[in-house]
Amino acid sequence: MHHFQYQGGVLHAENVPLPAIAARIGTPFYCYSAATLERHYQIFAQALAQACPDTNTLICYSVKANSNLAVIATLARLGAGADIVSEGELRRALAAGIPPEKIVFSGVGKTAAEMRFALETGIHQFNVESEPELELLSRTATELGATASVALRLNPDIDPGTHEKISTGKAENKFGIAWRDARKVYARARDLPGIDLVGIDVHIGSQLTDLAPFEAAFRRVRAMVETLRGDGHPITRIDLGGGLGIPYRGDNDIPPHPDEYAAMVNRCVGDLGCELLFEPGRMIAGNAGILVTSVIYEKHGTDKTFLIVDAAMNDLIRPTLYEAWHDIWPVRAPAPSDPTLSYDIVGPVCESGDFFAKARPLPPIKAGEMIAIMSAGAYGAVQASTYNTRPLVPEILVKGDEFAVIRARPTYDALLKQDNIPAWLDPAYSPDR
Ligand code: LLP
Repeated sequence: MHHFQYQGGVLHAENVPLPAIAARIGTPFYCYSAATLERHYQIFAQALAQACPDTNTLICYSVKANSNLAVIATLARLGAGADIVSEGELRRALAAGIPPEKIVFSGVGKTAAEMRFALETGIHQFNVESEPELELLSRTATELGATASVALRLNPDIDPGTHEKISTGKAENKFGIAWRDARKVYARARDLPGIDLVGIDVHIGSQLTDLAPFEAAFRRVRAMVETLRGDGHPITRIDLGGGLGIPYRGDNDIPPHPDEYAAMVNRCVGDLGCELLFEPGRMIAGNAGILVTSVIYEKHGTDKTFLIVDAAMNDLIRPTLYEAWHDIWPVRAPAPSDPTLSYDIVGPVCESGDFFAKARPLPPIKAGEMIAIMSAGAYGAVQASTYNTRPLVPEILVKGDEFAVIRARPTYDALLKQDNIPAWLDPAYSPDR
């Protein structure tokens, strides 16, 4: 469910017609709906409250999905915590008003400097993914006279059944501590200074559309909690990661509802008396955002029609990187009498991988018209680059009938000023001076 709908023949974000935004800032732009972000967070929170009424839960929004300060602040207002994977994301979460005691730090490659900043901030938990990381965290905490609350991320060796590039729970992936080494590493962690060993963490992948792999992983976690408690570790927290998928193709691929997910969680680990942490990203932000772009040209190839639009792979890389499907909606509502044509929707970047959709059935769309690339709120803007010296796409947040530019389009001047030409390239330069 999202709040992008046609009203009076024009696609709106909540109550704002998209052409009104385009008139103000031009295209392309990302547009997010505050009501949709809020709704998704609340549906997840309510599902957990209902299914696990006797359990302390903490929803740590996975900032990597969409890290615009306004998006994080919208969720912070609802009580969300944050799952972060870098000092940059930690700084964003704090700047957006997430309290440190609701922040968990994930990721396989935390540096000493990042650990130091997080320890000084006083975050809730470090999810540690290897023994060397554990040792560095212990040294860093000891130097600061601090104690790090730690969950060890274990790799349950479960195939999440998602795209290989976003699958993280198999033994061959770089993530987590090998299952068979868990008891040894827990024993080691207990003896390390500066470490308070509080929990266990798993995250098996992203865009899961089936509950079974989650359930298999969570059952393994349950068994491990019992074993670790038997070894004398007072495990009090379980971080179950993120990964619940979203419907990218309208009603054709419906992932499990948060209610079913929460009931399954409760079945697997609800009676262990642990605080449960969750790290959802995509299911909160994914369908809360779209990428609006204008058709520059309609081009007839040998046996295809291309719509060449002003957004490109550098703005939304998901189709080419993960063969991802994004629905495409024309901004002007199609008439019932419109024929269905087939278009390849492509950007101006000089690569054949620069596409948003191939052989896509759509009503006739002409040069100058706008289309919306749907479900682009997660892993869209955050994965954008300036490839082909294209300025990053601006971001807009809509709330009711208001909208705000939450990241402006950079100027070409600002883009070029990031580079420096060394003195020796100055024609007046002499090495002897
Ligand atoms: N927790 C950890 C440790 C993660 O690595 C991730 C995502 C999440 C939580 C959030 O997962 P979510 O609920 O959003 O599925 N760029 C890819 C997705 C990469 C996911 C990386 N990790 C895409 O566009 O599909």
